[in-house]
Amino acid sequence: MRTALLSTHGLVARYGDFQALYGVDFEIGAGEVVALIGANGAGKSTLLKSIMGLLRVAPDMVQLDGRPVGGSQPYRMVAAGVAIVPEGRRLFSGMSVADNLRVAMDHAATPHGEAWTVDRVYALFPILKEKQAVPVQSLSGGQQQMVAIGRALLNQPRLLLCDEISLGLAPKVVREIYQSIPSIAENGTAVVVVRTGRGLGPLGLQPALLHARRSRHPYRPVGGYFP
Ligand SMILES: Nc1ncnc2c1ncn2[C@@H]1O[C@H](COP(=O)(O)OP(=O)(O)O)[C@@H](O)[C@H]1O
Ligand SMILES: [Mg+2]
Repeated sequence: MRTALLSTHGLVARYGDFQALYGVDFEIGAGEVVALIGANGAGKSTLLKSIMGLLRVAPDMVQLDGRPVGGSQPYRMVAAGVAIVPEGRRLFSGMSVADNLRVAMDHAATPHGEAWTVDRVYALFPILKEKQAVPVQSLSGGQQQMVAIGRALLNQPRLLLCDEISLGLAPKVVREIYQSIPSIAENGTAVVVVRTGRGLGPLGLQPALLHARRSRHPYRPVGGYFP
């Protein structure tokens, strides 16, 4: 039997008294790209935060290589090979593009294939090389998103979690960013792309591979990936 790279098992997440997830089963294998799609408030970000250790969940609810890691500190998840591009990017304002990227290298996982370097990120997003000395806050939204993705890649992830990376960007920029995903997945990195709505058209790939079901389990994604 194949062991998923990462899986969740009946994952339940709460913010204080408010329960946001009611038993999510999800899995992704090495090199797979999964689109996680759902309405606003469905719990997509909550699922990513639970995987990343930003919300506390029981150990067995999140498994990496079949081993329980739920509730681990985020820095341990990074060291284990999971990185997140958070909603809203959360770049270090006042710091240059290059410094925002370098920061990630201090807490990286052991590379699992060809290591990500700052130069390799510049090869993926050439505009960032031109802007390397520029403070991130003066970049366009799309360029900032590229920095956020590059920063996560420099954590050397085996699993990259991308939260709403196309939000508010022009279609041309969205296309450019999505076109980078196959080369990220190429050497075995798994990628979760979270977005509201079904429009994965720019990827030229099948949309809606995960479905929200409103029932006893308000949000229960069911399998699927595109190659
Ligand atoms: N920090 C928080 N405190 C309390 N409730 C929250 C918090 N963040 C999200 N929620 C609630 O959890 C549910 C899921 O939110 P979220 O995961 O952000 O959804 P999505 O990313 O799919 O839009 C929503 O009902 C939202 O209001
Ligand atoms: Mg969200």
